[in-house]
Amino acid sequence: MISQKSIQEILAIAQVEDIISEYVDLKRRGVNMIGLCPFHDEKTPSFTVSPTKNIYKCFGCGKGGGAPQFLMEHDKLSFPEAIRTLAKKYNIELEEDKRNDEEYIEEKKKLDSLHIVNQYALEYFKDSLHNSQEGKSIGLSYFKERGFIEKTINEFELGYSPKESKAFLKNALTKGYKEELLKELGLVSQGGYDFFRERIIFPIHNQSGRVIAFSGRILDNQKKTAKYINSPETELYNKRKVLYGLHLAKKAISNQNECIIVEGYSDVISLYQAGVQNVVASSGTSLTKEQIYLIKRFSSNVILLYDGDPAGIKASMRGIDLLLAQDVNTYLVTLPEGEDPDSYMRKLGYQAFIDFVKKEKKDFILFKADFLLKEIGDDPIKKSSVIKDIISSLAKIPDHLKRDLYVKKCSEVLHLDEAKLVRELDRELRSEFKKKRQEQDREKSRQQFREEKWIAEEKQDDGVIHVNVVESADYFQEKDIARLVIQFGDKKVNYEGSDISMAEYIYASIYEVLEMFDNALYKQILLEGFKLVEKDISIKNSFLTHENKDIQQFTINSLAEPYTFAEWHLKEVFLQTQKPPDENYLNDSIQAILRFKMRKIKRLLKDLGEKISQLDEANEERIILIKAYQKVQEDRKSLALKLRTVID
Ligand code: CTP
Ligand code: MN
Repeated sequence: MISQKSIQEILAIAQVEDIISEYVDLKRRGVNMIGLCPFHDEKTPSFTVSPTKNIYKCFGCGKGGGAPQFLMEHDKLSFPEAIRTLAKKYNIELEEDKRNDEEYIEEKKKLDSLHIVNQYALEYFKDSLHNSQEGKSIGLSYFKERGFIEKTINEFELGYSPKESKAFLKNALTKGYKEELLKELGLVSQGGYDFFRERIIFPIHNQSGRVIAFSGRILDNQKKTAKYINSPETELYNKRKVLYGLHLAKKAISNQNECIIVEGYSDVISLYQAGVQNVVASSGTSLTKEQIYLIKRFSSNVILLYDGDPAGIKASMRGIDLLLAQDVNTYLVTLPEGEDPDSYMRKLGYQAFIDFVKKEKKDFILFKADFLLKEIGDDPIKKSSVIKDIISSLAKIPDHLKRDLYVKKCSEVLHLDEAKLVRELDRELRSEFKKKRQEQDREKSRQQFREEKWIAEEKQDDGVIHVNVVESADYFQEKDIARLVIQFGDKKVNYEGSDISMAEYIYASIYEVLEMFDNALYKQILLEGFKLVEKDISIKNSFLTHENKDIQQFTINSLAEPYTFAEWHLKEVFLQTQKPPDENYLNDSIQAILRFKMRKIKRLLKDLGEKISQLDEANEERIILIKAYQKVQEDRKSLALKLRTVID
């Protein structure tokens, strides 16, 4: 287990924008950076990264946190894995605690060993290709025949799996790898045979370049088995979320602001070798939503480079509608009959190939209209179904200017009255809009519910959550105290000659009325914050990784939103006799604390008043309460003076 000290060190060093910019195309906007959220579909960026606060927050889907949270959410890492990733990136050596955290160790061991086994298999296949007689004469010569040079073979880490049915298994066992894991990764069949035999191996990497699966191609096209076989889905590999070659292409895609999508592994390799490096493969299936998110992190312009055969194009059309819905500018290039990108690149060479793509690239919707019309000939019934199809594509374009333009063009291609097309489209849009609205309303009420839960939930001393339906009248004042703790709790302030942290200052200031804190969540934030600064641990960093999800979320929200004490931001409120603080936050904080205390004291007075009125005049307790009442009243007066509000 990683020591707390190391974790704190990493959290203090890791800059959130360093990490995120590897995945999201971030643009400066003022002090912040913005980009398209990798966690939900959006066309205008609401994903905000604040380098100064060292957090990210998406104002669309609400996800947010610091550098480790991003890695956890995005790469599905556990917290310790995220910390280790950061440590590697910043070259920090981690200090390990000997403490035995079983659950963590189990989970980590499992994923680690899967990675280790995959890495071993990769080395094995590479070694077989380059160093075995069989690999060289069959595998390597095949690659060479296809025109792949040594450098390319190494970059894509291509390999070879021998013919002998247990060659890999035997080697793995002598090296001490567990058969169970080999089976889990699909490298060995349940029956105990090598899964890949006499095939050339295309390793499949995730976008950070780790091997997560393999694909094996037969060498002899005449053989009656599948041309490619692929690793099964595992804990490391989800094929919907992978684009072949992305780890090598992502830079070029981002630099050129354009992504070329092809179907096959060899198409990617061939284009990459020729110098077209912004290329990835969908691996023969139609594009998934997840793959589109992946692409959109780097660019919103896509060129599909597909073989010219109609069946293939038809099959890919559904994936293409998804691209349109994501507001990806989609172009299509169809290659001459019988060619695929690999063969055609080899035929034309770099320059002629590029020129061909430039010349032939057609806007997808127009292509679709044209293509479908040609397919149906003169049949009027079929024509109306084509029109419906096109309209549903058009309705998916979120940008209305773009949509209008397409309507015009499509009416030409389809030989249709533009006004009629507009009418049909309007109807489609209205129904889509209604659907979307309903979904948004549902989401809104879910969000509201979550927020209200904070107000209503009160954790009692017996540990049971009691739902308190009446929200606390002091809710906003308490929320502000919690926010102060998170935003400024770590800061040092000079208090009567000595340096204390803001969290300690807040705690000390409201100590007397702590009992009256209603909201359990906000109270917990204050108490824990106070304990953390005592131990010299950063409140901000700890709360961003707090085990209580509500505290995490509240922390993100507090850090992300500019803090405004809207109604109290009045200079005059501040006592003239008091030295003006050099920092605004101190000014604001003091006012928030005073407001909070004022609420509580008023309540105390009311409670006391009620109790007193219920007691008999002769009762001794009554006299004590009256004294207390007078004392509290004094407090209120001096508070009010500080706040310069009228005593009501
Ligand atoms: N594919 C697959 N399984 C198959 C056939 C195809 O997974 N049985 C996927 C592979 O990702 C392949 C892509 O579909 O790369 C395109 O198929 P195809 O055009 O047949 O293969 P190429 O990659 O072009 O292979 P080659 O040029 O070597 O024939
Ligand atoms: Mn091919």
